[in-house]
Amino acid sequence: MFSKMATTVHTPFVLLLFQIGVFSLPVSQTPQESPTCGYKSCHAIKPGMLNVHLVPHTHDDVGWLKTVDQYFYGARNDIQHAGVQYILDSVVDQLLKNPDRRFIYVETAFFYRWWKRQSGDMQDTVKQLVDEGRLEFVNGGWCMSDEATTHYSAVVDQMTIGLRFLNDTFGPCGRPRVAWHIDPFGHAREHASVFAQMGYDGFFFGRLDYQDRSRRKASREQEMVWRASESLVPPVADLFTGILPNGYNPPEGFCWDQLCDDPPIRDDPDLEDYNVEDVVSKFLTVAQEQAKVYKTNHIIMTMGSDFQYENANLWYKNLDKLIRYVNQKQVNGSNIHVLYSTPSCYLQELHRANLSWTVKRDDFFPYADAAHDFWTGYFTSRPALKRYERISNSYLQICNQMEVLGGPTSRNGSFGVGNSDTMKKAMAVAQHHDAVSGTEKQHVADDYARRLANGWTQCQVLVSNTLAALSGSSAPRVYCEHLNISVCPLTESSSKFSVNVYNPLARPVGWSVRLPVNGTAYAVTDSSGNAVDCQVVPVSQATVVVRRDRGYAVNELLFQVRAPPMGYSTYSVSLLQKGPPPASPFPRAPKDIQNKFLKVTFDPETGLLSSLSNLETQQTVRLSQNFYWYNASDGNNKDSKQMSGAYIFRPNSSTTFIISKTAKIETVQNSVVQEVRQWFSPWVSQVVRLYADSRVLELEWTVGPVPIGDNMGKEVITRFDTSINSSGIFYTDSNGREVLQRRKDYRPTWTLTQTEPVAGNYYPINSRAYIKDEKDQLTVVTDRSQGGGSIQDGSLEIMLHRRLLHDDVRGVGEPLNEASDLYPEGLVVRGRLLLSLNPPAVAANTHRPLAQEVVLQPLITFTEGLLPPNTRPEFSGLQTALPPAVHLLTVSQWDPDLVLLRLEHQYEARDSKEHSQPVTVNLQKLFATLDVLGVSEMNLSANQWKHEMTRLDWKVDSGEKPLPKTKGDPSVWEVTLKPMEIRTFLLRVRLR
Ligand SMILES: *[C@@H]1O[C@H](CO)[C@@H](O)[C@H](O)[C@H]1NC(C)=O
Ligand SMILES: *[C@@H]1O[C@H](CO)[C@@H](O)[C@H](O)[C@H]1NC(C)=O
Ligand SMILES: [Zn+2]
Repeated sequence: MFSKMATTVHTPFVLLLFQIGVFSLPVSQTPQESPTCGYKSCHAIKPGMLNVHLVPHTHDDVGWLKTVDQYFYGARNDIQHAGVQYILDSVVDQLLKNPDRRFIYVETAFFYRWWKRQSGDMQDTVKQLVDEGRLEFVNGGWCMSDEATTHYSAVVDQMTIGLRFLNDTFGPCGRPRVAWHIDPFGHAREHASVFAQMGYDGFFFGRLDYQDRSRRKASREQEMVWRASESLVPPVADLFTGILPNGYNPPEGFCWDQLCDDPPIRDDPDLEDYNVEDVVSKFLTVAQEQAKVYKTNHIIMTMGSDFQYENANLWYKNLDKLIRYVNQKQVNGSNIHVLYSTPSCYLQELHRANLSWTVKRDDFFPYADAAHDFWTGYFTSRPALKRYERISNSYLQICNQMEVLGGPTSRNGSFGVGNSDTMKKAMAVAQHHDAVSGTEKQHVADDYARRLANGWTQCQVLVSNTLAALSGSSAPRVYCEHLNISVCPLTESSSKFSVNVYNPLARPVGWSVRLPVNGTAYAVTDSSGNAVDCQVVPVSQATVVVRRDRGYAVNELLFQVRAPPMGYSTYSVSLLQKGPPPASPFPRAPKDIQNKFLKVTFDPETGLLSSLSNLETQQTVRLSQNFYWYNASDGNNKDSKQMSGAYIFRPNSSTTFIISKTAKIETVQNSVVQEVRQWFSPWVSQVVRLYADSRVLELEWTVGPVPIGDNMGKEVITRFDTSINSSGIFYTDSNGREVLQRRKDYRPTWTLTQTEPVAGNYYPINSRAYIKDEKDQLTVVTDRSQGGGSIQDGSLEIMLHRRLLHDDVRGVGEPLNEASDLYPEGLVVRGRLLLSLNPPAVAANTHRPLAQEVVLQPLITFTEGLLPPNTRPEFSGLQTALPPAVHLLTVSQWDPDLVLLRLEHQYEARDSKEHSQPVTVNLQKLFATLDVLGVSEMNLSANQWKHEMTRLDWKVDSGEKPLPKTKGDPSVWEVTLKPMEIRTFLLRVRLR
């Protein structure tokens, strides 16, 4: 019935109905008149009074206890009563009933699902609500991303698709002014930095350490300016940041959702339980109390919570009354004014207050909500999903590049119809703060993985189409997703095949491939027909155990490949007449292994690492490494009943249990690789690997099934103990970009009372961590997000896997006890840590490119048999490699003749004498196969033209004045990037 009415909003007949009061639908008479959204649509405030901004909102998780689609439809309400489609239906209906009402909506993944099912008339009605600022989008990404375990490149992508949908659908009134991360469990500085560069005027969140919060309340520093980059010149990465008063809930006693039990406002004096006076006086008290901990005469109240407003009438009916009765008191001298508002209207008043705000320079990790309740477990929870998400990002970037390089044939070519969209959306959903974070129920984790797998399937068609077009061969292309456990049916069985290595980076990279094979001798040639050194080694016992019955290869073929920038190279492999079997591994640890660059020594007694040397710089550090576990608290602990769970890391004590003091060893040494295979227990093994041409040491760990027969949950770590004099300090990256210093038992912005010696010193590691002293820096690059800390001087530990027997009472309601069909006795996880040792002043020259190589790893595909003649064996999409400081962050088809390009300076200002310099790239000389006909610069999220991007400016306490904005480059084609700068362009292109 409602949508029937809405369908006719614009006709005079209906306007007449409104005028005679059938509906008080306050549509503007001429919908074409200029929109009054955003700051212009805010309700009047009363300057002399305390203004209370009521913000009706719903927090809709893009998957958590239910899958994203179950949440959308309201399926499985037995798990949790929640249905987003009904929320949006009901809210729109209620907004139409009173023009004063406001609502904000956040998660575009849901809004998009709802929008496409609405009639054209309903869409018009909603557009009008948006144009009038009655329905306002905040944040507006596909989801509200996790901040501890996400990589910036995937965050930028997911924001881009959400914001693009809003702009395409609603134009400028759909552009959110405020970033809104009310639920994520701690806040990353890099998130603030990218939000600033996306043009947001401000940022609000709900969760921070309880000690930090109480100090900020006392000193009224709950609102501040976050200076989120040490490299970008202020105010480029400055973001006004506010902490919400009640997380994101309404004040106690004022929750009027159907999910709540608070009493409604009963305002008929003739009926029972009349309570207006009572509610109003309680509200006035709450407002006055809240005002004491904020600086201005404006305060915000979040009126809503998880999946609320399914029956929005309950909320709005009571809020209408609350506003009426509270404001009526003004005639009796009350100086509190309450109004329907939005985060941007509240922000506008903070800006008008024209105060100076304190500057925040570090981040909001780790987050604790009580003395023994540190949310540092989810940094590692679900390590396999975390890795799958990370390689899916690499795969998506390759898929995007292929779509551009292949043109229309990529989506419809020799291998059929494929797309990049499925993967874009799957990745966007996976960034949610209960997705890659690992804090969802098991069936929901499975759903995220399934979506990513569907994305891969679509991308594989697209990639095959483009590779066929570029190479001129449409031989079927085989993808082997289980090379990490030596499974690939084609290479196992074939006697002649070719290997295509596609490199998504903008510079040539070398890569070591290991292919499962059954033969004992092979010949490998590169794309020019030259022989490539290759070796065959037996598959390790640990790998045989992990892969179970999925593959039968007895050997692995190893060789080094090299691929050109944004391009591929092809290698041919043929089985030679049965050669001698590969030498059996040597059953002991060597004294050392070394190549031109590195030397690693082992303790002959234990088989463990004992030192690492950089032979170029003549540095040596003592380096021992082993595997340990913490006993996860089951709640029976003298200090606290808090259990370890998906969110919370709560070891029962700081004691680490060693898995084995010694390792059983096998050594393999040949001209391509030297590897020491260490076997610690049936569930922990590792390969220490040094490739011939590598400046990094690879540690490939395999952990699981973590035993729980002793009824003890286990948090498994590896720890490096070194001679580096790190003085309680270590470093971790923020979302894969800038690096922050961490100091043991210390927080830069308040005096910490440390209550958890281990969990309270854990930080997210997205891509790297390091310890250093004056002379030596040991950097560990990870292949996924993990948690870690430096609990003793000179030591660095990284949590690899967790298996827990209890729920940690933060809502997920399941212990983190992962198993699968293939691993019913518990999940086995394999990953890599890459170690480098360098003088601190030049360490970034190694770890910056290395981390990008791990994030954007090459894609290896196979074709059976010899390459047909006329096949193009090598291709580069770039005219030349980009300078080493420049990272090609995004190359993605935007519209049929438009390409979205992001270029990034991948060094921080202080990183490197050599590379931390401005660098210039010419856009017309970028691509080898595309003519660039036009260019427009955009903001980071590509939802605004750069020259239109204006942000509110904020005064800060530090006395520093923001520098004047620098002018754009004189030439449109020459693009200069300064350290840590990302520039986003829309290019008009034509395939050559
Ligand atoms: C590979 O060799 C193993 C052991 O010799 C054998 O069981 C398997 O069938 C072979 N597989 C193929 C595909 O040749
Ligand atoms: C936003 O969308 C409008 C159409 O609604 C379009 O004209 C405009 O170019 C878009 N802006 C950007 C930055 O893409
Ligand atoms: Zn949430």
